[in-house]
Amino acid sequence: MRWAKAGYEVIIGSRSQERANEASRKINDSVGPSARVTGLANPEATKQADIVVLSVPFDGFNEIFKTIKPVLREGQLVISVMVPLESSVGGKPTRTVGLWDGSAAEYINRILPRNVELVAAFNNVSAEKLHDLNGIVDCDVLICGNREESRKKVFELVNAIPGARPVDAGPLENSRTIEQVTALLVSLNIRHNVKGAGIRITGLP
Ligand SMILES: NC(=O)c1ccc[n+]([C@@H]2O[C@H](COP(=O)([O-])OP(=O)(O)OC[C@H]3O[C@@H](n4cnc5c(N)ncnc54)[C@H](OP(=O)(O)O)[C@@H]3O)[C@@H](O)[C@H]2O)c1
Repeated sequence: MRWAKAGYEVIIGSRSQERANEASRKINDSVGPSARVTGLANPEATKQADIVVLSVPFDGFNEIFKTIKPVLREGQLVISVMVPLESSVGGKPTRTVGLWDGSAAEYINRILPRNVELVAAFNNVSAEKLHDLNGIVDCDVLICGNREESRKKVFELVNAIPGARPVDAGPLENSRTIEQVTALLVSLNIRHNVKGAGIRITGLP
């Protein structure tokens, strides 16, 4: 919704064409006539996109990945917003599942085609805040990935969201810490009875 509002062409991917249509229609209705949002099945959406955002519950990732991996191509940037919360496998949303690779992003990076770049970003951003198109998203967005050029590409996407500040968070292995922060934010939401806790890093230039 935020990117559509900022003028980006957005394709919503889904396992079902009907749900993709429904989601894109809702976004077009919310954003208004300037929105350029369409819905497609995940593989078709992946084929057409320059930037592919992986935004599904961790337990559902493998099923979807099998359908999109064959169509990922050189030059595409893949962004993982995913957090391996334990709730996606029936546990607590305040804990993460331990992964051999260290984080969901590092796992995905290992199984991606070699010529496709992965960046982890937006992992700590509340969907609730993003959804309120009239509100600002008062938080920092930590961006990590193994190439500076790829991290910088995501700066523009963060700057398109009013209130959000992009922060270069270095190599992809920092996603181990960043993904854990989301579990902490969920815990803070519960403790303080709010829905949109976020983070700010101080002391940066
Ligand atoms: N929600 C937040 O505030 C937030 C914040 C930071 C990070 N994240 C991370 O972002 C990711 C998406 O979160 P979300 O809250 O948007 O999740 P969600 O609403 O539960 O799921 C997003 C979409 O993923 C597909 N999906 C759901 N379950 C699936 C399954 N078992 N297998 C395959 N596809 C499935 C569905 O699309 P179709 O049915 O149309 O295919 C669904 O609309 C998660 O990894 C989460 O940890 C979320």
